[in-house]
Parts: sequence; structure tokens; C-alpha cells
Amino acid sequence: MEDNQSIKLDDFFDTTRYDIEEKISSTISDEKIREILHGGKRLRSLLTQLTFKTCTEGKETHEDYQRSLESAVSIELAHGASLIHDDIIDKDAERRGKPAFHIKEGIGHAILTGHRMLAMGFDIALNHGKVVAKLYVDSWNEVVNGEINEVDFNRNGHKEQSLKSTIFEAYDKIIDLKTASLFSSACEAGALEANMSGDILKVFRQYGREIGLAYQLADDLVDLANGEMIDSVIIPLLNRLEKKPIKKTSFKRWEIKRKFAKNEDKIRQYYIDEITKHVRKAEEISKSDVIPHSSYKDLLMDAPSYIINRMLSEINISI
Ligand code: FPP
Ligand code: MG
Repeated sequence: MEDNQSIKLDDFFDTTRYDIEEKISSTISDEKIREILHGGKRLRSLLTQLTFKTCTEGKETHEDYQRSLESAVSIELAHGASLIHDDIIDKDAERRGKPAFHIKEGIGHAILTGHRMLAMGFDIALNHGKVVAKLYVDSWNEVVNGEINEVDFNRNGHKEQSLKSTIFEAYDKIIDLKTASLFSSACEAGALEANMSGDILKVFRQYGREIGLAYQLADDLVDLANGEMIDSVIIPLLNRLEKKPIKKTSFKRWEIKRKFAKNEDKIRQYYIDEITKHVRKAEEISKSDVIPHSSYKDLLMDAPSYIINRMLSEINISI
């Protein structure tokens, strides 16, 4: 795509998604892994391509573009692996409208396939040099730590009687590690593939992190609106908002639902305010002087609200 014409984000995402799918097909021969990756929105890898193109201003060689797509594939592999493991942990039977991988293949196979995918992704990252490989490992480490925090919070959170602010602090940390970290690395990876160094890497890391935080909050808000409780956050929060706490021993679904319905507006408003805050921060970061001017820079500005509003349209909200 030439830079001297204005590009629409929709078109950029559509064209790039096509290229990512092609790269997945030509890189991964294992049918089962291809099926796991099938149907993903490719948000993280689209952001990799967007920061890459912003850095090259659309003037990269064909070889460089293909290499950046390889990086995108490694991100999709890590993300896909994390979802297989997440569905086992969350005891979810469905993913992307189909039976979850552990339901189809059994838990043992699912755990091991997740490990294989991570190894495949790491192999690609390693081929792109030590800096990219280190980014992959650091991000993987953060995602795993986020998930461990969530598992612990789910075990103990019901008992928490701590301050509302402490509950949200724990929640913020979880979503920062388990989700925002991979968005952040995806954005940095695009800049690394374009041979950038210094401040611009930091700017893209922050940009991706803000989108990732908004993404997970929006994902959770949609779940809440669809009646899927996020126990780890909602129960301690309801305990703070209500006089009579829900005890873990007398943990009743209907009781939580009733209390949630009573406090729904407050909780919903909290989510909308937080999501808006992170989207606006990402937009602000996209204007940074260290990012070169091109039509891709304008797309960086459009991307956060575009991504989040698409998610929120399911529950008729727009920010
Ligand atoms: C989805 O969250 C899950 C994640 C963002 C990360 C899951 C991470 C692990 C299972 C750690 C293992 C990591 C690797 C790389 C193998 P969610 O449950 O809120 O979203 P959902 O509604 O899509 O399930
Ligand atoms: Mg889950």
C-alpha cells in the first residue's frame, strides 16, 4: 500500500488479515494447530503489522514484510496456546462457537499441544534474533504470572473483605499481566521488525498496553452484560458494596445474581469509565513526536476506539 494516499483502517485490517492468514497457512503444517488458530480476530498480530507499517511508512521490502508476518504468526501461536490452557483452567467447554480443544481432544493432549505451539512460536522469535526472542519470553512470563494471580484471586478472592480500591488494584494487575502484556509486546514487535530502537519501542509498548487494558475490560463488561459472572472480581466487590457479605461457604449463584442486579449500574459505569480512559490514553500516545508522520500514524489514532467499539457493539455500547 502506498503512503501518499489515505488508508482506511477497515481496509488496512482486511488486507493485512488476509496476509496473516496466508502466512499461518504457509508456516504451520499441523492440521490441528491450524484449526485451533482458525476463527481468531488476529487483533494482536494486526497491531504488530500496524506498528511495523507505521515505522517503515509503508516503504518496506517484500522480504521485510514477510518477516514481520512471521512475527505475527509467533504471536498468534502464543495467544492460541494461552487460550487452550485458559479454557482448561476456566472449565470452559466452548471457544469461538466450537467445542474447546480440551473437550475435543482431552486435557492431556490440550496441555501438550499448547506447549508445542509455544515452542513453535518461540522458534520463530529466535530466528528473528535475541531481542525478539527475549520479548517473546518476557511476555510469556508475564501472561503466565497474570493467570497465576487470577487463579489465586479466584481461590481466595471470595473471602476478601478488603477495600474496593484494593479489589480493583488486584484486578488491574491481573488484566495488565494476562492480557495487556501480549498487546504491548505485539506492538513493540512490529517496531523491532522495522529495525527501530530507543524511545519509539517504549512508545509502542505503552500504546499496546493501553489497548490491551481496554480490551480486557471490554471483554469482561460484555461477559457481565451477558450474565457471565467474573467471580474473582464481582464477589469481593459486591461484598464491599453490600452490607451483608457473601461468604464462600454459603456461596449461592442466585444470591450473587440478585446482588449484582442491584449494583449493576455502578459496576457497568466503572467499566465504561475505565475503558474510555485507556482508549483515550492510547490515542494520546499515538500522537507522540517520536512516531514518524504517515497515513499509518493516523490509523494508530483510529485503532483503539475501532477495536473496542466493535467489541462493545454486542451490548449496544459505544465510547
Ligand atoms: C483469556 O482470559 C486468557 C488469557 C488472556 C491468558 C491465559 C494465560 C494462560 C492460561 C497462561 C498460560 C500461558 C501460555 C502462553 C500457555 P479470559 O478467561 O478472561 O477470556 P476468555 O473469555 O476469552 O476466556
Ligand atoms: Mg477464559
